[in-house]
Amino acid sequence: MRLAFGTLERTKFVTAASELARNTLVHGRGGTLTIEEVNQGGRTGIKLVFEDAGPGIPDIERALEDGFSTAKSMGLGLGGARRLVNEFDITSTVGQGTRVSIVQWKRR
Ligand SMILES: Nc1ncnc2c1ncn2[C@@H]1O[C@H](COP(=O)(O)OP(=O)(O)OP(=O)(O)O)[C@@H](O)[C@H]1O
Ligand SMILES: [Mg+2]
Repeated sequence: MRLAFGTLERTKFVTAASELARNTLVHGRGGTLTIEEVNQGGRTGIKLVFEDAGPGIPDIERALEDGFSTAKSMGLGLGGARRLVNEFDITSTVGQGTRVSIVQWKRR
């Protein structure tokens, strides 16, 4: 896949990805990352999906709030990641795990 993202987009996306990877490792006890190219309505983008089979998140809205952390950390990763990318989707089931996907579209 040819990458055609500006420096700012790239930095924002990589920062979001690293926060989500950290969550997968720290809170989700490890998991997988899938990277794919997405095409929609004539646009091309990159999609990352982080999946784990960890404890899950009981209250996603709360977890997305700045300052909420169950690990006595900053609690900025999840909400920050959502603000840094074009598309953000999270699903989580307690006792089953968490799936977060992010998309960044190429500039046209
Ligand atoms: N993959 C996950 N599995 C289970 N819980 C998660 C996962 N990702 C996030 N959480 C929950 O959401 C909370 C908020 O996540 P967030 O990344 O914002 O903060 P943090 O990881 O605690 O701190 P920071 O990322 O700022 O160091 C976490 O403390 C944790 O309770
Ligand atoms: Mg985090």
